[in-house]
Amino acid sequence: MSTKNIHSENYQSICVKDPIVESNNSHIPPIYATSTFSYEDLEAAFAFFRGENHIYTYSRFSNPSSAFLAQKIAELEVCGLNIEARGLLFSSGMAAISAALLSQLKEGDTILCQSVIYGAASDFIHTDLASFGIQTIDHDLKDFEDVLKVIKGNPTIKVLYLETPANPTLSCVDIEALSKIAHEYEIKVIIDNTFATSYIQQPFKLGADIVVYSSTKFMNGHGTGISGAAVTKSIDDHKKVFRILKNFGGVCSPFESFLLNNGIKTLPLRINQHQHNAQMLADYLFHHEKINKVNFLGLLSHPDYELAQRQMYGTTGMMSFEIKGGLKAGMIFQENIQFCTRTASLGTADTLITHSASTSHAVIPEEIRLKNGITPGLIRCSVGLEHIDDILKDFEQALDKI
Ligand SMILES: Cc1ncc(COP(=O)(O)O)c(C=O)c1O
Repeated sequence: MSTKNIHSENYQSICVKDPIVESNNSHIPPIYATSTFSYEDLEAAFAFFRGENHIYTYSRFSNPSSAFLAQKIAELEVCGLNIEARGLLFSSGMAAISAALLSQLKEGDTILCQSVIYGAASDFIHTDLASFGIQTIDHDLKDFEDVLKVIKGNPTIKVLYLETPANPTLSCVDIEALSKIAHEYEIKVIIDNTFATSYIQQPFKLGADIVVYSSTKFMNGHGTGISGAAVTKSIDDHKKVFRILKNFGGVCSPFESFLLNNGIKTLPLRINQHQHNAQMLADYLFHHEKINKVNFLGLLSHPDYELAQRQMYGTTGMMSFEIKGGLKAGMIFQENIQFCTRTASLGTADTLITHSASTSHAVIPEEIRLKNGITPGLIRCSVGLEHIDDILKDFEQALDKI
């Protein structure tokens, strides 16, 4: 897979056909900073607008900078699998998530949704989709008999929406078992794979229909831009998602695509190091007297350790932990952290910490947060690529202040 992250045959086929690129021998795909493409062949352009062929006409429909990268992301998604996939790039993870959902739903339909997902996705589903007459049933999805009962009792369920591992508790659900149940009732399975990336989890192999990403995170890897991706297995789903992308207009800009392609080249290397550092930090915190709980998929104590071992190829660089003393202790810790960065994002080269209940999950009602382990004292950490001794030193001095 690491070779595919760097080399792209698509670049050869999509960009190098371009006579300017070809004559300049540009090693790196150029940024096509153009809104339109002139119609050299009028018949071909008109045929495109009738939906009969594909040529570049207008960058809201497609642009070579994002087209070749979208296909690269799709190829990574099915690397080593005998599955075909197509990718689309968006202006953000939320644009990709909302397009994937809108592509499959209409008024009167219902979404069966994992009990806690990323805050804005939850807000979109429960507020915006609800205003279009699309209802949601939240469920923890661990008990398959119960899931079956819910599906049988609600024939309007058309989408099963999963985020596994979930932000911020790293809670996982069984993609394969749930996809099997969903498909028996012609329900589409959409998965947010942002935390894992295709390098450590391939949801298509386990039965998912559409995989969505905030590529702002590990894929970009450096915190330099906002982007999203949706990868589909069937041509029909690809067309449906593309229609929403084109008509809602949340396309990825050529410059963001350029940044994303730079990041994606080193994804496997970075994830390996993120995971290594996260394991060391999790082990340290697990044995620390001031820590109540550590949520990390590489710890046997995580309730989904075995499931993660089964359906993922790694543990991710993400964790969350609870300091004894709850919110007050958590605030002292965050105020005293020096080397790591206090910010709400994740997946960058530097270590980031955030208080989930006040940031990424602030829009989720408190009783639901608490029921799902997002306690007032929970701190999420996206473990970076720095030397682990520096990360540990910073944590140690901040914990000493409590
Ligand atoms: C798991 C997950 N999915 C989706 C998103 C939304 O991504 P974006 O901010 O790129 O719209 C986020 C953002 O934090 C996230 O953590």
